[in-house]
Amino acid sequence: SILIVDFGSQVTQLIARRVREAGVYSEIAPFSMAEEAFQRMKPKGIILSGSPAGVPDEGSPRAPQILFEAGVPILGICYGQQVMTHQLGGEVRPGHETGDGGEFGRAYLTVTKDCALFDGMWQVGERHQVWMSHGDKVTQFADGFEIVATSDGAPFAVIADEARKFYGTQFHPEVVHTPDGAKLLANFVRHVCGLAGDWTMAEFRKTKIEEIRAQVGDGKVICGLSGGVDSAVAAVLIHEAIGEQLTCVFVDHGLMRQGEAEQVVSLFRGHYNIPLVHVDAEDMFLGGLAGVTDPEKKRKFIGGAFIDLFEEEARKIGGADFLAQGTLYPDVIESVSFTGGPSVTIKSHHNVGGLPERMNMQLVEPLRELFKDEVRALGRELGLPDVFVGRHPFPGPGLAIRIPGEVTKERCDILRKADAIYLEEIRAAGLYDAIWQAFAVLLPVRTVGVMGDARTYDSVCGLRAVTSTDGMTADVYPFDATFLTQVATRIVNEVQGINRVVYDYTSKPPGTIEWE
Ligand code: XMP
Repeated sequence: SILIVDFGSQVTQLIARRVREAGVYSEIAPFSMAEEAFQRMKPKGIILSGSPAGVPDEGSPRAPQILFEAGVPILGICYGQQVMTHQLGGEVRPGHETGDGGEFGRAYLTVTKDCALFDGMWQVGERHQVWMSHGDKVTQFADGFEIVATSDGAPFAVIADEARKFYGTQFHPEVVHTPDGAKLLANFVRHVCGLAGDWTMAEFRKTKIEEIRAQVGDGKVICGLSGGVDSAVAAVLIHEAIGEQLTCVFVDHGLMRQGEAEQVVSLFRGHYNIPLVHVDAEDMFLGGLAGVTDPEKKRKFIGGAFIDLFEEEARKIGGADFLAQGTLYPDVIESVSFTGGPSVTIKSHHNVGGLPERMNMQLVEPLRELFKDEVRALGRELGLPDVFVGRHPFPGPGLAIRIPGEVTKERCDILRKADAIYLEEIRAAGLYDAIWQAFAVLLPVRTVGVMGDARTYDSVCGLRAVTSTDGMTADVYPFDATFLTQVATRIVNEVQGINRVVYDYTSKPPGTIEWE
């Protein structure tokens, strides 16, 4: 295995992901717990991550010195390179002292010497694009090291001590803007550390099942299903680990898409035979949403009501020791950050935040280190149907935030029909998997139309489709006009209450994906 020592970089999980892609198992440990992890794992290689801190800064993190004395190959990335240099007796100086502002973004390095990291990919004399992000600089490397690649802003772009198998890159090989970065990391874990590269999602499944068993013991676990992929995958995995110690609760707020609630129930009860409590709370939610038009108030109400109902069900089944959640890595990025500053709340996404504290339960979060596409791969591994696993993300508050203005049962039904037509056409055109999220919104605006000889005065439907890798930024999906015309025609003809359809051409930023 590979031990990844985390110094708080926002992209540490990307290192883990690249190592997984190279077919090698890894674990991330914060620098403060790295020694314990090292003793326990006995890894065949170590990767030191980047950091928002600078090595010359007072109190900035260090790696346990023992890591450098264990005879295990080490790759230091950015801060990792600098901290290794510093701890082995070299020198790192702040950007302001070396008289330049560092390098940020795309840069080019030149290979000056052969290196095990470059096997089968980079030759001496070649120039290659990499992604830099550093202010401080190595000004004197430690004994035994030599330069194997340089760039204008970083003479020590890549350094190597082939005897000890210690390597340092000033750039970030884990990000996609370093096109050969994944290969470089694969070279490290396979060629340098000698790991086989035969680790797969099936192995991840086994490892997690053991971890879940170890964590839970004979305790009881309760899991809230949202209808989405993440909670479903988490639930199926946990059920495989501990069977009937798990109970799933599906609080059905009636704000799901067409046919979705039924699908969840039949999948869990029918296909997997997992104990499932289905709470049909449509009336309660719609009642509480009556007269509410402010998006944040909708979210607050739905989140609060969800927690209340969930708690009530948990009590009915006699309580639980653990709460299972399908938290993914992008959801936890904030909490591993060392920069500390609170980020601005654009929308309050954490629908069930506060639940574990209130119910005094420990969390079971088996998907915490995975990215969405990896969760999908795991779902397939667990036998979840493709249509379910490939499903677009859906927000916790459901259709309530796709109906600007007041949410009523009637408007939910209208939206469900339009949305189903839109998605049906997208699937028929073979575009579903190329899109991150596609959905219809029902606007609180009525416009005049003409159907047959009659004047109509009905609602406007907005269509949205975006591509994205994590939902943080998004591009508009460029449907051709024929496709959109076809969808618009069907919606206006088939859905009573809508007489006009518009397409949203706003990227994120400045728009958000949802309209509320
Ligand atoms: P925005 O609209 O902020 O959405 O660009 C980014 C991603 O988050 C989803 N989203 C939510 N998910 N509760 C959720 O669980 C919410 O309140 C919420 N609001 C937006 C959105 O669908 C997109 O995938």
